Amino acid sequence: MKTKIVFLGGGNMAEAIFAGLVHNQNFEIEVIQRNPKKSARLKNVYPTIKITSNLEYKLNTNDILILAIKPQQAKESCEAIKDKINQCLIISVMAGMPTSCLNKWLDNPRIIRTMPNTPSSIGKGITAIYSPEIITSDETQLINQIFTSIGIIYSTKNEADIDKIVPISSSSIAFVYYFMEGLIENAVNEFGFEREQATTIIKHVISGSSALLDANPSIAINEQRARVTSKKGATEQGILTFEREQLHDITRMAMQNCYARTLEMAKEFS
Ligand SMILES: NC(=O)c1ccc[n+]([C@@H]2O[C@H](COP(=O)([O-])OP(=O)(O)OC[C@H]3O[C@@H](n4cnc5c(N)ncnc54)[C@H](OP(=O)(O)O)[C@@H]3O)[C@@H](O)[C@H]2O)c1
Repeated sequence: MKTKIVFLGGGNMAEAIFAGLVHNQNFEIEVIQRNPKKSARLKNVYPTIKITSNLEYKLNTNDILILAIKPQQAKESCEAIKDKINQCLIISVMAGMPTSCLNKWLDNPRIIRTMPNTPSSIGKGITAIYSPEIITSDETQLINQIFTSIGIIYSTKNEADIDKIVPISSSSIAFVYYFMEGLIENAVNEFGFEREQATTIIKHVISGSSALLDANPSIAINEQRARVTSKKGATEQGILTFEREQLHDITRMAMQNCYARTLEMAKEFS
């Protein structure tokens, strides 16, 4: 029998997940998306998925509800469906929103917190998962099945780690893109390359760097870097510039500020 998975919110993160699940025969997917323009697009792209503007019936205990709304929309959205969820299993993908708040708003203790990232839509995601003790091992297996079908998973021992993982596996996607944008801008503005050509080159550099690490798991990242960085060579001058300008300190500040905002949002919207 198929497990029903209902997404509350059909935005970027929800789509990243259900795009990866849509062909999995074990699941029946439904998406609640109140914005008519966004619903119309989803209906067009995913004709086999049921898209509705609100939950029109009561869920069963065996169904799964995935909370994929923004933290600022959480309280109002949870309270609006509270009477229809029947102690079903709930998975939150919301950054920063603690289970204690969700328990209260939904009157349901069966809440799993997760932190996926957007490459989930192409099966290359990484999802951190925190399951409280009340979740059975069968349910944990089911949750793992959902998230392994869109990438790899990482189980955390406590809920606080779900907040700590945000700058590491979720927001870091944007950090990498930001660095890529800098490389592309400079290829265009400083070295006169066409933007399209520069973009192709930098995308290939990033995917190639990652693939090289995967192909040689016994070679550490700093060793691979050393192989490109000859003494008194050109690359060394670039690395020395990053060191002099303390790029790692900037990275630390970016990650800390990202984490601080994750915690702040929980207070702000709970
Ligand atoms: N994007 C990421 O990389 C990422 C990574 C990890 C976790 N997350 C988490 O994922 C969650 C969603 O983020 P997102 O980037 O996907 O945001 P998003 O694109 O804005 O998606 C949220 C969607 O939910 C809809 N919505 C809100 N309340 C609703 C309700 N009561 N009924 C039906 N639909 C409702 C919104 O519609 P309206 O347009 O009408 O408001 C919007 O389309 C956030 O909590 C975020 O912390 C995101």
